[in-house]
Amino acid sequence: MPSSAEVLRRTGGRVVKSIVYDEAAIAAKVAELGAQITRAYPDGDLLVLGLLKGSFIFLGDLVRKIERPLQVDFLVASSYGAGTTSSGHVRLLYDPETRLEGKHIVLVEDIVDTGNTLRKLMGLLRVREPASLAVCALLDKVEVHAPMPEVRFVGFEAPTAFLVGYGLDHAEDYRHLPFIADLM
Ligand code: IMP
Ligand code: MG
Repeated sequence: MPSSAEVLRRTGGRVVKSIVYDEAAIAAKVAELGAQITRAYPDGDLLVLGLLKGSFIFLGDLVRKIERPLQVDFLVASSYGAGTTSSGHVRLLYDPETRLEGKHIVLVEDIVDTGNTLRKLMGLLRVREPASLAVCALLDKVEVHAPMPEVRFVGFEAPTAFLVGYGLDHAEDYRHLPFIADLM
């Protein structure tokens, strides 16, 4: 665990309530997810689609733990403003250029909260006829939403707190933290 002085240096003096997952716990979980994904796709084309910006660190670590050929692309969707609750509206600001047809798609998401963002995106991707479509989420607030069978690879079942770090932001801050913290 980092010392509180180290945390405050990274946050500019703003306190976080607690560290929920430290670097070592995250690294172990990401390695496990990489191994699961490697086993799940013995053949075919695999496209790992990262949902920006929240997945940028997770995706970078995850693909290095997947031991089979793959390609990477990104989606940019916008659903949150500066608040901490989901609005339910999703806009696609960047659409992957790669063809999805006939490929195995793993959509990489930082955290599933209400699941609204994912449901909307899965609908948009399904019409492009991929061979399969699954979600890999580092964090899943399972208590918030109805079961989602598409969320096939899950790192941690997260508490219903507002989490920041390792890609997750609050009003664009804290994404760079190497650990995941409960903000308040
Ligand atoms: P959903 O549509 O409610 O599932 O929200 C998913 C998106 O909201 C995630 O991709 C995050 O960008 C954001 N989000 C949800 N919960 C948190 C959180 O605890 N911390 C930071 N961002 C969150
Ligand atoms: Mg966000």
